[in-house]
Amino acid sequence: MTIRAVVKGVGHYLPERVVPNSAFEASLDTSDEWIRSRSGIERRHFAAEGQTTSDLATKAAEMALKSAGFLPDDIDAIVVATSTPDLTFPSVATMVQGKLGMTRGFAFDVQAVCAGFIFALANANALILAGQAKRVLVIGAETFSRIMDWTDRSTCVLFGDGAGALVLEAEDGAGDVTDRGVLSADLNSDGRHKDMLYVDGGVSTNGLSGKLRMQGNPLFRQAVEKLAETAHAALDKIGLVGADVDWIVPHQANLRIISATAARMDVPMDRVILTVQDHGNTSAASIPLALSVGVARGQIKQGDLLVAEAIGGGLAWGAVVLRW
Ligand code: UT7
Repeated sequence: MTIRAVVKGVGHYLPERVVPNSAFEASLDTSDEWIRSRSGIERRHFAAEGQTTSDLATKAAEMALKSAGFLPDDIDAIVVATSTPDLTFPSVATMVQGKLGMTRGFAFDVQAVCAGFIFALANANALILAGQAKRVLVIGAETFSRIMDWTDRSTCVLFGDGAGALVLEAEDGAGDVTDRGVLSADLNSDGRHKDMLYVDGGVSTNGLSGKLRMQGNPLFRQAVEKLAETAHAALDKIGLVGADVDWIVPHQANLRIISATAARMDVPMDRVILTVQDHGNTSAASIPLALSVGVARGQIKQGDLLVAEAIGGGLAWGAVVLRW
């Protein structure tokens, strides 16, 4: 018998305000055509004034708990992936715990920028395998609209706000790739690439929350190379290849990166979950959002083999293989 962290519920939340590409044309030298053709993005959601990352995360968590049939106190731990917390501290995870009315267990944040959900999921899996928790709520939630430089056309048209959540539960498996649950993970980072994607403010630097800065083109090239590599590495650990995969659930940064990665993995685009056109890049929220939307659309079904992969600031990147 092998313990597996099996998905029991999924949920997401998108703020009501939808902003089409054309909304940027009045204030910036950009166009719907440029944004669509270079990134695949058509629209994104922005949080309302006063709406925080923990608000978005709590709504996604409530939907995931409901779909799992669990109450907040049935959960042992909450792990939130975010780079846009409500406050410097406490963690968004403890704020979600409070807002859910959960009176037990423990909660903490994971910060690996756009790869955050992959790191959070791998850590939640490790908590379950180590016997530290039986049921874990894993959330990716962001309000990247708060760290945009609205005068920088090369970044502000790309990002959006949102949240997605999974409920994992420990279950006995056979110990082979037919098991449901997390089957493998591959995590990487390389701090030498800090300047490719960072926020120019912080507590111990200048006391500001700062604005996002990105060298888009070099990052694009890193992403195409590293995402297929990490997805292959995660599959290879359990003796599988791209042809075994039912769905790639990629980080939704750029349609061109997503299709180049799928091509390198020999997976056709009709087996890739795509939400980038509707959500833009929601950083750590993009994969759980894509999972939840993929289930709601009837694409992802129980028993499907999924590979989720992401890269972001750090650089940090990784992939998780799981059977839904
Ligand atoms: O989530 C974390 C990971 N993030 C990523 O993986 C993002 C990776 N990068 C990308 O997605 C792409 O690099 C971008 C979408 C950001 C840019 O696409 P690109 O094909 O790499 O374009 P580029 O940066 O090479 O820029 C091409 C041109 C430039 O003009 P010149 O120098 O050729 O005259 C830019 O100034 O496009 C210009 N440009 C724009 N033009 C109209 C940049 N932003 C815009 C804009 N509208 N919004």
